Amino acid sequence: HPLDSLNTFRIPARARHYLRVDGAEQLAALRADPGLAALPRLVLGGGSNMLFTRDVDGVVLHMTGLGKEVLGEHEGKILVRAQAGENWHAFVQWTLAQGLGGLENLSLIPGTVGAAPIQNVGAYGTETRDVFHCLSAFDMASGEVLTLDAAACRFAYRDSVFKHAEGRALVVLDVTFALPATWSPNLRYAELARAVEEAGLAAPTPQDVGRTVEAIRRRKLPDPQEIGNAGSFFKNPVVSQEHCARLLVEFPNLVHHAQADGSEKLAAGWLIDQCGWKGRSLGRAGVYPKQALVLVNLGGATGDEVVRLARAIQADVKARYGVELEPEPVFI
Ligand code: EPU
Repeated sequence: HPLDSLNTFRIPARARHYLRVDGAEQLAALRADPGLAALPRLVLGGGSNMLFTRDVDGVVLHMTGLGKEVLGEHEGKILVRAQAGENWHAFVQWTLAQGLGGLENLSLIPGTVGAAPIQNVGAYGTETRDVFHCLSAFDMASGEVLTLDAAACRFAYRDSVFKHAEGRALVVLDVTFALPATWSPNLRYAELARAVEEAGLAAPTPQDVGRTVEAIRRRKLPDPQEIGNAGSFFKNPVVSQEHCARLLVEFPNLVHHAQADGSEKLAAGWLIDQCGWKGRSLGRAGVYPKQALVLVNLGGATGDEVVRLARAIQADVKARYGVELEPEPVFI
């Protein structure tokens, strides 16, 4: 089964077996199939955080379950549930249309609802964990449907239990979000606060904030429909206070944000930009001219070409700043 149109990088790849999954039944059947159960599995949502470097010699589980509902009020929050296969942005728009705020800072993020908790998707000062209530997951090991709360998901920056060995057998079926019954805008992200102010929005609604986030994203992130990409290609690296202080002596403009534990998060995009990579390319893989953190498929790139570009960038950033950049998408 071809995967070219199922990954936003639009890298050519194939799967030996392909299964559309819209609920626990298909997963139970897969588990009971002696031929398929032992094969490696790859769970695919919108394919917006993946880089294929080879064909998948196993089963691709394409999560296509649809459905969304407002469950009602619970401890001062409004609970809203969506099936894993729902398009993320369409779901955000739907909550806003119901008059529910809380997800607007996460507008226009590519991918599906089921993928959001996997890497604790975050943008403009809101992370999935901030609005998360619980999720249901099918356990391929036991055959049971489990309910996981936020603690069980072990959310961290672009990370969760699902990216680790203990969570590998879990397939997310649906996600329940807890949205505030009384909304106030989250404008902690300076760029968003500035844009809201510049738009003259003195008392912004959730829709206003959502539209502002969309405008910012459209300005600097490539539309995967037009240019193949997987959003940020590297995580923002975290370094010690000492390392950051040393760098600041030589690079006074270094972009850094103090973390609660005293460490400093650096802007990978800034580091890459300063190394002169913005807008450059290697073969058919390039660095997006408006945002150096995004690698793009200039047309017909293979996964290996993107990897080669990524390695060259990592080597330059390491040599100049002594910082290791960690890729954000999953390499297959
Ligand atoms: N910067 C540069 N040059 C560049 C890019 C960025 O100097 O080419 C500087 C900016 O001026 C800014 C800083 O780097 O001072 C941070 O840039 P930005 O606000 O654009 O955010 P980011 O750190 O590049 C992160 C997320 C994005 C998310 C935005 C907004 C990660 C890896 N990326 O990007 O998430 O949308 O913040 O919250 O944490 C994604 O994960 O796919 C993604 C797009």
